[in-house]
Amino acid sequence: MEDTERILEEAQKEAEGAESSRALYEVKMKFLGRAGKVTALLKGMKDVAAELRPAFGKRVNALRERLEEIFEGLEARAKEREMRERLASESVDVTMPGRRSAQGALHPVTLVKNQLIDIFAGMGFEIFEGPEIENEYYNFTALNTPADHPARDMQDTFYISDGFLLRTQTSAGQIRLMEKKRPPIKMLSPGRVFRSDDDATHSPMFHQMEGLVVDKGVTLCDLQGMLDEFARTMFAETSKTRLRPSYFPFTEPSVEVDVSCAACGGKGCPLCKGTGWIEVLGAGVVNRRVLENCGVDPDEYSGFAFGMGIERIAMLKYGIGNIKLLTENDVRFLEQFKG
Ligand code: DAH
Repeated sequence: MEDTERILEEAQKEAEGAESSRALYEVKMKFLGRAGKVTALLKGMKDVAAELRPAFGKRVNALRERLEEIFEGLEARAKEREMRERLASESVDVTMPGRRSAQGALHPVTLVKNQLIDIFAGMGFEIFEGPEIENEYYNFTALNTPADHPARDMQDTFYISDGFLLRTQTSAGQIRLMEKKRPPIKMLSPGRVFRSDDDATHSPMFHQMEGLVVDKGVTLCDLQGMLDEFARTMFAETSKTRLRPSYFPFTEPSVEVDVSCAACGGKGCPLCKGTGWIEVLGAGVVNRRVLENCGVDPDEYSGFAFGMGIERIAMLKYGIGNIKLLTENDVRFLEQFKG
């Protein structure tokens, strides 16, 4: 009988000292669990003298009930406190301003390159990328520019070692493709090119987009039709092209292609130096010698080719005055091209 008093006191003290609902549960098990002290008392009932048993049983039951009540009350308080703490620690201030992540933009050279690919892919051109390190054969010789040819001086070449160089023009890709693929050919070849040249409109590394079409009966008219379409999409709906005679060793005839100045609509302004026209690319009918060098019969097939500087197109399109802005990576400049 005295045990019940002691147990009540002990349990109450321990329960009140429990700091969490988890600890409280452990105390509860210590007394009311299957191996608990109160349960042990009930189990010991058989050793109690028969006449005392009813009174003892009553008392132990009363103890159990009292303890259950105590635990219940403490449990409810502990759970409530824990919930409050959790809510406080997980609270979110919905009025706090969000953290903005800086958003990047495509580089103007990439934008123009992608747009060129779009325009010409729509006409059925396939992309072909040649190597940046070339040998003299692909960069010059096969393009009808043998070693002693004065046209080699048109481009200030970076030589790497005897016979090897950084390609000066994506035209080298024409040869590589024609060696691999028989006509009909419609190739578009973007890539980096390198020349020892450096001023406000020239940079030692820049990008070109080469085009090559070889098939039966291809003429300069086909070239101009495609270039008109290119000019209208790239610059303005009203843009026109004009061909002027020129010279490239790999084309005959060769032309320089002007686009009507989009800034003044062809009336003449500082951008087009008052002429109404802006030179944008070189092109021509593929020289018979070039076709022969690639094993294509020039009596059966003809073709045209063109090559343009992507930086130059980007500068014209976006009104960029100095080519160096395109490689300085000044975020204030680049940000302006966010779509
Ligand atoms: N490769 C020439 C250059 O870099 C551009 C060019 C002119 C490419 C005429 C061509 C072409 O394919 O037919 O200046």
